[in-house]
Amino acid sequence: MILNTGQCNNPKDNLRTTIDFTGEWKFYLDPDEASIETLPGDSAWRELDLPHDWSIEGEFSRDNPATPGGGALPGGTGWYRKTFTLAEENRGRKVFIDFDGIYRNSEVWINGQFLGFRPNGYISFRYDLTPYIRFGDATNEIIVRVDNSMQPNSRWYSGSGIYRNVRLVIASEVHVDHWGTFISVPEIHGDTAFVAVKTSIRNTSGQSANVSLLTRIFDRSGSEVAMERTDLQLPPDTVSAINQDITITGANLWSPGDPYLYTSRSEVQLEGKPTDELETPFGIRYFRFDPRMGFFLNGESMKIKGVCMHHDLGCLGSAVNKRAMERQLEILKAMGCNSIRTSHNPPDPGLLDLCDRMGFLVMDEAFDMWKRGKSCFDYHMYWDEWSRRDLEDQVLRDRNHPSVIVWSIGNEILEQWDSSGTRMAGELASIVKKLDPTRPVTSGLNDPAPHNYIYRSGALDLIGFNYHLSDMMDFPENFPGQKFIATETTSALATRGSYDMPSDSIRIWPVAWDIPFRDGNPDHTCSAYDNCHVPWGSTHEEVLKLMERYDFISGIYVWTGFDYLGEPTPYSWPSRSSYFGIVDLAGFPKDAYYLYQSRWTDEPVLHLLPHWNWQEGDTVDVVAYTGCSEVELFLNGESQGIRTMDGDRLHLHWKVPFQPGELKAVGRKDGMPVLESSVRTAGTPSRIELAADRDLLAAGKKDLSFITVTVTDEDGIPVPYADNLIRFSVEGPGSIAGVDNGNPVSHEHFRADFRKCFNGKCLLVVRSGDSPGLVRVSASSASLESASIHLKSKANPR
Ligand code: GAL
Repeated sequence: MILNTGQCNNPKDNLRTTIDFTGEWKFYLDPDEASIETLPGDSAWRELDLPHDWSIEGEFSRDNPATPGGGALPGGTGWYRKTFTLAEENRGRKVFIDFDGIYRNSEVWINGQFLGFRPNGYISFRYDLTPYIRFGDATNEIIVRVDNSMQPNSRWYSGSGIYRNVRLVIASEVHVDHWGTFISVPEIHGDTAFVAVKTSIRNTSGQSANVSLLTRIFDRSGSEVAMERTDLQLPPDTVSAINQDITITGANLWSPGDPYLYTSRSEVQLEGKPTDELETPFGIRYFRFDPRMGFFLNGESMKIKGVCMHHDLGCLGSAVNKRAMERQLEILKAMGCNSIRTSHNPPDPGLLDLCDRMGFLVMDEAFDMWKRGKSCFDYHMYWDEWSRRDLEDQVLRDRNHPSVIVWSIGNEILEQWDSSGTRMAGELASIVKKLDPTRPVTSGLNDPAPHNYIYRSGALDLIGFNYHLSDMMDFPENFPGQKFIATETTSALATRGSYDMPSDSIRIWPVAWDIPFRDGNPDHTCSAYDNCHVPWGSTHEEVLKLMERYDFISGIYVWTGFDYLGEPTPYSWPSRSSYFGIVDLAGFPKDAYYLYQSRWTDEPVLHLLPHWNWQEGDTVDVVAYTGCSEVELFLNGESQGIRTMDGDRLHLHWKVPFQPGELKAVGRKDGMPVLESSVRTAGTPSRIELAADRDLLAAGKKDLSFITVTVTDEDGIPVPYADNLIRFSVEGPGSIAGVDNGNPVSHEHFRADFRKCFNGKCLLVVRSGDSPGLVRVSASSASLESASIHLKSKANPR
């Protein structure tokens, strides 16, 4: 790869150059623990582009050391290397490499020189390559060793490898430091915002430097709305912080409903000549948590309607892809969700960019354990040496995002039962506060007693606890004057499209920690009637009711928004992914999705469940989630009765003797029909329907189209039990990125050109190729009519 400053992506040439460094790497999965000296020759390596997760390419096995809890996929040790040249004109400039995250225990070398080790698989970091880099025709080689061999080290699927983005940054000797801007808005009066910009400038020139810092603020349309200039002299080899106060009149506030972003451009001039430039997006908003009334954003009361999310992207594994994250957020947004808890680790920075842009509030979480570990080889091993540095880096990286409103210093930390927890909570909170005094600190704890050692520290601004609904109701009494957020709730269990009757009998699984699992379904399904949850959790409805009833509850974070790989509670092997998601692993909503949509949005919702393929003689529990005030149900035109949304009801219910045909719901408001929805009995599987979430892709191998495959009968009615094996082919500039069906028990490969349907559906993910063109996607299956669609790939489609 040849790099030159022609690839500058900043407004002015010859200032800072940021280069996407994800293309054309080589990878070697190392079976014998090689060292940098004993690495094998070229033929043992394969070419690939980052981000890359080698675990997702492997086979499921209960013997993989990650265990089913970690997703039952392989770990091991992998090596990456990349060669490149840097044009002569870069000599004299600083060259950095930025990694957004490597899972885990990474070691990096440049031209044989060791740069460093980072154990934390979720942290972003930079190395300075300058002293070792070669310019002109000479080749540089960067080598990265990733060691995910010591397992189990995670309670969920982590993935393995350089699974996030990598950039090369080339800057002048005098430049804005790494994560060197901090923008906050200490005061807002009416529509006048007082913005505090702190900029750290690094002078590596070996001489003192006469510098001017010009900070320009641009509004959403790109118009400059404010500017501040500071002149100063920087001593040699120092980092100097410059504080500028900038007033913006006619300020537009950022909120989930209108995520208005400004951009701050830091222009550094040396002896009057531009030498560096960096842009930092930010938002203007203010918020507070109130002990009695909950959360307020920009002066208005707002419930935090949140979900917890792990970082995997289903069949793509943990390899970060912007479109895949954006799709998850789009699906959650349409449900009415306005907040994400990045359980239980620093997220990909791209996720925070999306949250800023799409309007999500974020609880940015740091750790799942402190010094006391939860699995044999987890981060507790590195706690003493690395935790301070990692937490600092997280806060420095993330503190400009308007989406981030709370820091969580840990989830269910075992030191809550240990006197060391008091001291440690104090230390961690003060690390955060020193770098960011503008946001509250919380921790999601699972002992809701006020005397638990972490609460006792007094270090938490916001009391968070997980589950424990009855303690939640007693919160104002137990924690007088304190502010509350339900950091984690629910843990309801469901398999998309599976229904156990009666719908109002609750299954609580697993029965107890020490009793082997019993009472489960032999096919490892959980019922999607919202009648199944873990002993420490509850139904979706129970939590929603509490949240709606009590003002002091600022909001909730449902465990979880999407299913994730690993933690297949209540089952174990052969299950290998979770049942907790409101949305399944493939991104298909389960029924509870529509319960949230009916409570959290103003959309016209009338969702009927279950499907209508039962046996004659069955009596079927029929449920509707709706925003209508009453619903009348008809079976083949005959009324089954009217139900009204009175009292604290969040769903409507009928018992209906099954007859094949059409079950239709008519929703009314003020007596007038406003909505209709129906389910029909499907005949035998006959056709394949393909529906792409986007048919226009950006060429360049990063964009994705998520294609939902539905098996229907000959009249186009979805067949709810269809499990046909579908084969795919992709012709033209595109390829298969992954396949899935949301079945937590499937051991089929995620990188394949076939997939069985599960409860009537499966998913094909197509990745754009390098060049533009027409992509033809075909699906076929024995005894089904085939289907095909076309996608277009263009250079700059959007
Ligand atoms: C919580 C924990 C989560 C997840 C969940 C499953 O206690 O914080 O990480 O394990 O249980 O219900």
